[in-house]
Amino acid sequence: MPDGITQVDYDGLIPNNVGLNEDARVRKALETWHPGYIDWWTTMGPEGFQDSLVYLRTAIGVDPKGWAKFDYVRMPDYKWGILLAPAVEGRSIGFGAHKGEPAWQEVPGEYRAMLRRLLVIQGDTEPASVEQQRHLGATAPSLYDMRNLFQVNVEEGRHLWAMVYLLQKYFGREGREEAEDLLRRRSGHVDTPRMLGAFNEATPDWLSFFMFTYFTDRDGKMQLEALAQSGFDPLSRTCRFMLTEEAHHMFVGETGVARIIERTCTAMREAGLHDPHDIAAARALGVIDLPTLQKKINLHFSLTLDLFGNEISTNAANAFNSGLKGRYREDKLTDDHQLLAQTYPVLRLRDGAIVSEDVPALSALNMRLRDDFVVDAASGVGRWNKVIEKAGISFRLALPHVAFNRRIGEFAPIHADTAGNLLSQAGWQARIGSFLPATEDNLYITSLMQPVRATGEYAPWIAPPKVGIDNRPGDFEYVKIAEAA
Ligand SMILES: [Fe+2]
Ligand SMILES: [Fe+2]
Repeated sequence: MPDGITQVDYDGLIPNNVGLNEDARVRKALETWHPGYIDWWTTMGPEGFQDSLVYLRTAIGVDPKGWAKFDYVRMPDYKWGILLAPAVEGRSIGFGAHKGEPAWQEVPGEYRAMLRRLLVIQGDTEPASVEQQRHLGATAPSLYDMRNLFQVNVEEGRHLWAMVYLLQKYFGREGREEAEDLLRRRSGHVDTPRMLGAFNEATPDWLSFFMFTYFTDRDGKMQLEALAQSGFDPLSRTCRFMLTEEAHHMFVGETGVARIIERTCTAMREAGLHDPHDIAAARALGVIDLPTLQKKINLHFSLTLDLFGNEISTNAANAFNSGLKGRYREDKLTDDHQLLAQTYPVLRLRDGAIVSEDVPALSALNMRLRDDFVVDAASGVGRWNKVIEKAGISFRLALPHVAFNRRIGEFAPIHADTAGNLLSQAGWQARIGSFLPATEDNLYITSLMQPVRATGEYAPWIAPPKVGIDNRPGDFEYVKIAEAA
């Protein structure tokens, strides 16, 4: 099939628009990998609901106006496919030392190792989140939410396929080994953990899930946006299509948190409770108090910032210079796209103070992507605050300072409060319980995690959504739960 044609072969074992039928070697490699993937999915994927019928969206095309269809599917039968966004005619490399040269259709030999590393790091996050979320089906606050969880999970599975396809097609034996290893590592495992820190943390409850999809899937979005700029065209096209699916994951997170806030505010208003800091009174109503939501924001935001790596990074400079990984929306930026003479302001620790320092822009690309992330993440927090405002409650949620609770980069060695004031070890210890969820906060959240499985009903700590998935009515049965579950 020539490039640029968006038609998808949907009938075979692996739906695709990359001409797998004509590519016997790659098709065989993927078909060989497939049983291991299904084995991973059934043992490490959503626990207890593999036989249930889930109203899922499946990608069947790459036309932005109609790329998906909705239907009941048993998750192990989901059609995980390989879909690349349409080729852009005459596309050239948009940045770095090769700027202006035709985009690569094959891997440039000199960048092979670097590119493989980028694919593996991205690929590793996809199954990791499925593993982290595998126990959540049992405590879903509604069938609607359960369906959204499973939708996110199957799509992360597809994103793994997307990276594995590139590894299998362009990296030969090494690629096959990497594809096997992607199924071998396990989130949180002591000996074979996933590659990045936040992907080894537990996602023990639904509030954590919504925060994870809001913040950590958004890191995924930023990374995919940067890789979508890649001079390696198959990677660019893969990431562009992945972003279409990724938007839903952040929607699940943003609306999930918004619905929790809405429910909390409604319950407070009905009970005549005006003080948002009266945690005991809010909890007596069976809802999640706003200060605890703030602590969860502090936790998930800071964990996610660590995923951007060191503020100053030679790897990031090399990936940019070589044309493999661009900046967020590189194609919309108006500078020289080479950054040899520019500087970029980076927050650094100097003599016990946090100061902004101009450094060579090429070395600060992680910082820049992280800054773009912070702006993107702040917009949803603004919408959450609108919900609180509308309810007439005086409380504002906010993102903590970037120096708060960090394990990687400039601020890893120090302690800071959520406003960015430096704290001594003792000062940190004394206040940690007011910054981050404490044991009793987590126990309270856990106590709320009682499953609700009647159609159209919702757990008492979360409001129903404004509209159904695929415009389905409020009492729609999003998951037909199999007997054994
Ligand atoms: Fe993903
Ligand atoms: Fe995602």
